[in-house]
This record gives sequence, structure tokens and C-alpha cells, in this order.
Amino acid sequence: MLKMKDILDEKDKRLRTVSKDVIFPLTENDKKTIDDMIEYLQNSQIEELSEKYDLRPGMGLAAIQLGIAKRYFVVVNEYDEGKFETYVLVNPKIISNSLEKIYVDMGEGCLSVNRPVEGIVPRFARVTVEAYDIDGKKIHVRAREELAIAFQHEIDHLNGIMFTDHIDKNNPFKGENEMRAI
Ligand code: NI
Repeated sequence: MLKMKDILDEKDKRLRTVSKDVIFPLTENDKKTIDDMIEYLQNSQIEELSEKYDLRPGMGLAAIQLGIAKRYFVVVNEYDEGKFETYVLVNPKIISNSLEKIYVDMGEGCLSVNRPVEGIVPRFARVTVEAYDIDGKKIHVRAREELAIAFQHEIDHLNGIMFTDHIDKNNPFKGENEMRAI
């Protein structure tokens, strides 16, 4: 079972790695890692379990956050009260995006960033992602709002980019009036 200590902290340089494409079939290790990531994210979003296992709540994890430099990530999205949907995307690519941009009003978060960070992270309001599922089948996923942000955040991880990189240091709330807050 994954614990918080297994997740790399932002100070760890490995998070700056550009991860490599996955070659199918996935290894047994990668399959196990994916199961662990799903379990962590699901448990972390259920208050009782997050307290029991001391898990910081999170919606997404990229393999590099566990020190594995391969292009895959998991997102667990609570789309309705107590109802979760799980996305495992391998070798993902954004193939189209809206012109409209949004940002998380409360500020974006990351399981590798253990401090509050203020400021605007501009994201596309809608994206279409082309990727492969765990069996190597090509898939297309359309996402909007929070889920679209999660995908962009995780794809950034695969390129060694942290959400904090997008915040203007001199003016963290730059662009506030040109984008929609969610
Ligand atoms: Ni993150």
C-alpha cells in the first residue's frame, strides 16, 4: 500500500525528468504501481480512510511522483457524491483544447507540494486527450473543468513541469480577470 512518504517531494530533482514513452505490454511492476496509485487516490478521497491511513487527499498521480520515469498517470475523479471514476492514461497527448481558459479559485494542489501555494495556474477549460489504456488500446477522452485541469496537471508532470512553474512570481494573480475561476 502506498503511503505519503512514497510520493516524491517537490525538492526532489527527479520530478524534473521528462518521462519516457511506455512500450507495451506494461510490465507487471507497472501494473502493480497503477493499482497502488488507484488505491491511494480512492482511499485519500474517502475521509474515513484518509484519516485511518494518514493520506493527503489527491485527485491525480503521475508515475514520476513515485520515481518512475514513464509516461502514465492515474486520475480518480469524484463525479458525484461518493461516486468515483478512474482514468489510467498511458502516453497521453492533448490533441485539442478550448480557447477558453480557467483556473482553480482555491489554488491548484499537488501531492508532491506540501505547502499552500497561492496564485493562478491558467488551464484550458476543455481538452481532448489521446492516450492508450493499460492494454495498449488507443483511446480518446474529452474532459472539461476540474477533470480537464487534472489531465493538464498530470501531463505536465510527465514533462517535468510543476504547477507552481505556471504562477507568475511577481504577480501571482496575473490574468485573474481574463479567465474563469472554478
Ligand atoms: Ni501533481
